[in-house]
Amino acid sequence: MDKMIKTATLSFNGKSIELPMLQPTVGPEVIDIRKLYAEGDVFTYDPGFTSTAACDSAITYIDGDKGELQYRGYPIEQLAEQSHFLEVCYLLLYGELPNAAQMQDFEHRVTNHTMVHEQMHYFFRGFRRDSHPMATMVGVVGAMSAFYHDSTDISDPWQREVAAIRMIAKLPTIAAMAYKYSMGQPFVYPKNSLDYASNFLHMCFAVPCADYVVDPILSKAMDRIMMLHADHEQNASTSTVRLAGSSGANPFACVAAGIACLWGPAHGGANQACLEMLREIGTVENIPEAIRRAKDKNDPFRLMGFGHRVYKNFDPRAKVMKESADEVLDLLGIHDNETLKVAKELERIALEDTYFVEKKLYPNVDFYSGIILEAMGFPTSMFTPIFAVSRTVGWISQWKEMIGDPTQKIGRPRQLYIGQTARDYVAVNDR
Ligand code: SDX
Repeated sequence: MDKMIKTATLSFNGKSIELPMLQPTVGPEVIDIRKLYAEGDVFTYDPGFTSTAACDSAITYIDGDKGELQYRGYPIEQLAEQSHFLEVCYLLLYGELPNAAQMQDFEHRVTNHTMVHEQMHYFFRGFRRDSHPMATMVGVVGAMSAFYHDSTDISDPWQREVAAIRMIAKLPTIAAMAYKYSMGQPFVYPKNSLDYASNFLHMCFAVPCADYVVDPILSKAMDRIMMLHADHEQNASTSTVRLAGSSGANPFACVAAGIACLWGPAHGGANQACLEMLREIGTVENIPEAIRRAKDKNDPFRLMGFGHRVYKNFDPRAKVMKESADEVLDLLGIHDNETLKVAKELERIALEDTYFVEKKLYPNVDFYSGIILEAMGFPTSMFTPIFAVSRTVGWISQWKEMIGDPTQKIGRPRQLYIGQTARDYVAVNDR
């Protein structure tokens, strides 16, 4: 994408450098600074990448001001309503919605790769039972590169394809195993007769001593949650996967790096932190104190599930999730859910408060998801693993796009050096 129709002029230190401006199909133009250091002997400075496009991509588009999110051009609201997770996986990976034959073939390939190598069961034994499932997932997903050697050569498009299918297929199995291990229950094997979301729920909640029939309400809700979390442009964990992949690391190692990054409470770990915060607030009466603390610069407390680097309007996923929370809890016969009541009142009060209005802080994808997951029977420690299962297709799609780009280079940022200038070593007796 090097359509150059205009330039930006940067004048500094007596120099004037013409920089090409690259055009998007939609969204902000970018100033191409690739030659800036060579011609101007300066770096640009943007530690949190608030104004930096690290790549070009055709996968996901976000308009933060309008609160819009599109996967390959399709609005998330339409996909959440009319599609299903595996179809969204196909769309993100290949760029188009599948026809019936393509969908059947894709579903067959994923379904027949859901088991993990039996030897991988022993990996779990190395973890304490009370390990956080995210710790287990980072370890076991990274270990996949020790098992699936025949899909680690990233220069081979066929191996890239096999690795993609394997990870989409096996992440739910590994996440369910991490959950079962933490519960002291036996692993439950995947069942090819179940759809993707139902299979995940069955692996999590079935036990050998009783029949377990997946509630269609729960599998529909799980499938929708997975669609909403599938991809999100160049977020921190996706950027981690891209950076790891730019060195030529195998895809399993790259996704393990993405899982590690997602775990942070400022990112995917916010769904767990948010529900724990809502529980700590406890009742509607305690909300004013929580709002006060969130606004206090000297208090590290933040409203988890609120705010976003890109959305300066409602996160469209939060809107869908809020509707789904009402629907799922109602269908499950869970009325007067105190946590949901606190969440809705907290949202109402915060969105009327000038602090949140001026800083354009709205509920994000993590604000309501935990309420649904808790109602499904998951402990908070499984919230981020479920986010990781869903986001794997986004990570893999972005990784494939990068590896498939013949112009891609290893990512290697520079710095503003503020340390000591050169100085001579001093022997210890002279210090
Ligand atoms: C995800 O990037 C993605 O796309 C991520 C994600 C995805 O799908 O991949 O959408 C998933 O990670 C969603 C975000 C989940 N995180 C949380 O809910 C944690 C709580 N939110 C904040 O930590 C924060 O809003 C971030 C991390 C999400 C965004 O941080 P930014 O963009 O760096 O914004 P900031 O910290 O500079 O905040 C701007 C101002 C600050 O005040 P000032 O310094 O300007 O006075 O808003 C304040 C912040 O103090 N602020 C909050 C707040 N979030 C920001 N104040 C109180 N509560 C909050 N939640």
